Amino acid sequence: MSNILVTGATGGLGKAVVEQLLKNGGADQLSVLARDPAKATDLQAQGVHVHKGDYTDYASLLAAFAGVDKLFLVSGNDVHNRVPQHANVIKAATEAGVKHIVYTSA
Ligand SMILES: NC(=O)c1ccc[n+]([C@@H]2O[C@H](COP(=O)([O-])OP(=O)(O)OC[C@H]3O[C@@H](n4cnc5c(N)ncnc54)[C@H](OP(=O)(O)O)[C@@H]3O)[C@@H](O)[C@H]2O)c1
Repeated sequence: MSNILVTGATGGLGKAVVEQLLKNGGADQLSVLARDPAKATDLQAQGVHVHKGDYTDYASLLAAFAGVDKLFLVSGNDVHNRVPQHANVIKAATEAGVKHIVYTSA
């Protein structure tokens, strides 16, 4: 399995994606981005790497995406700002060398 990072994993869709990926094992190759890591302690307990980050914080995104091959980007729910937020995520992923981005639209 590649190194995969899932955003939005403290929400409904992202958590479902992580749970599905965990069925294949390889928690050590799975990471998530969380604004509040305390909301992802259940995932951390299963061996998933939790990175604190926000779509609005470029440096946090760049740090979280280091070594990631594939990114699952869950669309943000701040409807007035999500286009620049997603652009930020995609730019950081590109700079970090992420090879494949899966994006779920609004
Ligand atoms: N295409 C479709 O048919 C379809 C269907 C349903 C939903 N959607 C879209 O999918 C998205 C997720 O749905 P959901 O039900 O999983 O929503 P949700 O439960 O509200 O989860 C949203 C997730 O995004 C995270 N998030 C929001 N803003 C962020 C930011 N600035 N930086 C980092 N993370 C951020 C939230 O983190 P926190 O826990 O910190 O808030 C949470 O983990 C929504 O945008 C929705 O519009 C699409």
